Amino acid sequence: MAALSLLSFTTLYAKKDESRIISVETSSSSLVFSVRENGAVHQLHYGAKVDASEFAAVPMVEGRYGNGAQAYPATGGRYLGEPALHLRYSDGNHNTELVYDSHEVARRGGSVTTSILLKDPVTGMRVRLVYEAYPEEDVIVSHAEIENGGRKKVELLNFASSALTLRSDKYLLTHVHGVWAQEMQLESELLGHDMKVIETRRQTQSTQCNNPSFLMSLGTSELDEDNGEVIAGALCWTGNFRLSFERDVEGRLTILSGINPFASTYPLMAGESFRTPDMIWSWSDCGAGGVSRNLHRWARKYGIYSHGRINPILLNSWEGAYFTFNTETIIKMIDDAASMGLEMFVLDDGWFGNNSPRNGDNAGLGDWQVNVSKLPEGIDYLASHAHSKGLKFGIWIEPEMVNPDSDLARAHPDWVVQSPGRNLYQERNQWVLDLSNPAVQDFVFGVFDGVMKMSRNIDYVKWDCNRPVLSFGSPYLDKDQDRFFIGYTQGFYRVMERIRAKYPDVIVQCCSSGGARIDYGALRYFDEVWTSDDTDAYERIFMQYATSLIYPACVMGDHVSTVPNHQSRNVTPLKFRFDVACQGRLGLELQPKYLSDAEKALVNRCVESYRGYRDIVFGGDMYRLNPPYGSDFYGLVYVSPDKSRAVVFTYCLRFNGMAGEGHSFRLKGLDPQRRYKVTEQNVDRSCWWGNGQTFTGAFLSSGAFNPSLPSLYSSAVFLLEAE
Ligand code: GLA
Repeated sequence: MAALSLLSFTTLYAKKDESRIISVETSSSSLVFSVRENGAVHQLHYGAKVDASEFAAVPMVEGRYGNGAQAYPATGGRYLGEPALHLRYSDGNHNTELVYDSHEVARRGGSVTTSILLKDPVTGMRVRLVYEAYPEEDVIVSHAEIENGGRKKVELLNFASSALTLRSDKYLLTHVHGVWAQEMQLESELLGHDMKVIETRRQTQSTQCNNPSFLMSLGTSELDEDNGEVIAGALCWTGNFRLSFERDVEGRLTILSGINPFASTYPLMAGESFRTPDMIWSWSDCGAGGVSRNLHRWARKYGIYSHGRINPILLNSWEGAYFTFNTETIIKMIDDAASMGLEMFVLDDGWFGNNSPRNGDNAGLGDWQVNVSKLPEGIDYLASHAHSKGLKFGIWIEPEMVNPDSDLARAHPDWVVQSPGRNLYQERNQWVLDLSNPAVQDFVFGVFDGVMKMSRNIDYVKWDCNRPVLSFGSPYLDKDQDRFFIGYTQGFYRVMERIRAKYPDVIVQCCSSGGARIDYGALRYFDEVWTSDDTDAYERIFMQYATSLIYPACVMGDHVSTVPNHQSRNVTPLKFRFDVACQGRLGLELQPKYLSDAEKALVNRCVESYRGYRDIVFGGDMYRLNPPYGSDFYGLVYVSPDKSRAVVFTYCLRFNGMAGEGHSFRLKGLDPQRRYKVTEQNVDRSCWWGNGQTFTGAFLSSGAFNPSLPSLYSSAVFLLEAE
């Protein structure tokens, strides 16, 4: 990869002389580095804004157990911990010692970039640490550029994006684990003195079992929504990742984050450089809520392809039709969607394949031609019909995958990820295509391009990815198998670059068996994610809560489905399902013809009211009122940036004898002085005595807001509008 050019920046200053303190600052936080007497660059602080110059007085201590918090610790010297950088030189040597060379600061748009150049005087290796500070959002995005300044090949064994050192008496790590249809299960743990690692080796389904993100609460044993210091970290990489948390003998915590070096030793020839993916950091002393809002604001402005644009309310065909449909079924669903006030119809899996028709998950993947016996009139006929009804039209693809029973697998067996002489394992009856191969990249781009050419009326593409990489190997890479995992992700990004260059306005959803690919690397190209295949509204409360810790509501695809729920078999009221799905980008995923007239009327009403407040969900600040775990009630509020409007969601998650008396929620984020008119949505009789009246933000935040949620799965949504 080419080194990043800083030439386009306005350079504020560049220093060769050893300025002892280098400070990266946002409105409320500082990240402070110091160039030590021996030339090493240490990181002395990340947290509340400080006068960085005071850190010049901090003496350098060379203890018995290593040598302080290095900005980018390398294997070698006095460093004994997990390295951010571990190199193997051509003579077999493993040691690198980086010292300060120079640093520069440049301004670009809304951010200020500080880059610190480190060098190993013995081997000529150079590392440029880049910190891009977004002052308004209190976010710092960092990466490293590793350059082989020597004369011989070097191998990168560890090559973290970022190393961050914290100092506290307690470190509470909050992160997620999960499986299919149970992604984003939250877990918090106090870190001991051993090393904690969160990683994946699943490559394609990189976030099904965990996520390259976390919160770190300092000095506390509990995750607090509103109080205390919390640091959020999120890696921009759609593939194998590794986060390590090492608490050393002096009580410091060093967090390393980056590409998982598993089976990925990276060769660097003389003069070549490698740019690591970005790592996003944010600090807040307003608890988990504060740090989430920082990330959400940053993401809407810089981190998501659509920048928080409002995406249409849709009907997706999957749970309503699965593989069994024809033109008539789809036309009827489109008509029903239009009659319920929806804005888009999405044709999911099952529309393609002829020699190997896609009538189940065992055939057809790879053959992206319309199935002429199911849909003889073609895709354009359906898309045009949707447009004639005032709806947009979307379509499902899974271009990185192939069923053994497909023309593609028969024609290109060498495009399949495989290890010579080994079993070609199937999952969901499919294989993974080798995206490290440029010919496969062309094919995958061609799938998207070809589908778009089927009709001028395609507005949305759901990009799926339904299995992990197993028994990895690339026929294309031959003896260079270490390049497979990184090459795959780079290939994926290359394809997405081409797609975005040609189709800048198409809405593209990132789906991977639900939420197995939710990260800020993918979100640079995608507009939204499919949060989970588990559409049970009760389960979704928890998943959407955990997702919202790092990712904003505007990217969450949340659908109302039928009951009993197809995944959990749980039965919840239709209104509860709506009130949960309206927390993000609303959709329906059911067969409308099975809805009663009364249910259709409720759908119309909920869709209409959502249309009236969704700009606050997409673009407002989210305040979670309490965590849903172990609580009988749960609530959250979205407040418009100017605090003139807010929407409040409340739910009963477990029946409690006092539920009917009303549960006090203390609303947050409102202007205490302004008076808000409260209007409950989608009901004839409100569950709160104050409905229709006007109250100050202070009153509404005092605990006096106590809607009655009398039974399990009762829910209520309120719109607040300032006078
Ligand atoms: C995955 C997706 C679902 C659906 C199916 C189709 O499981 O997560 O939403 O698209 O594939 O096969």
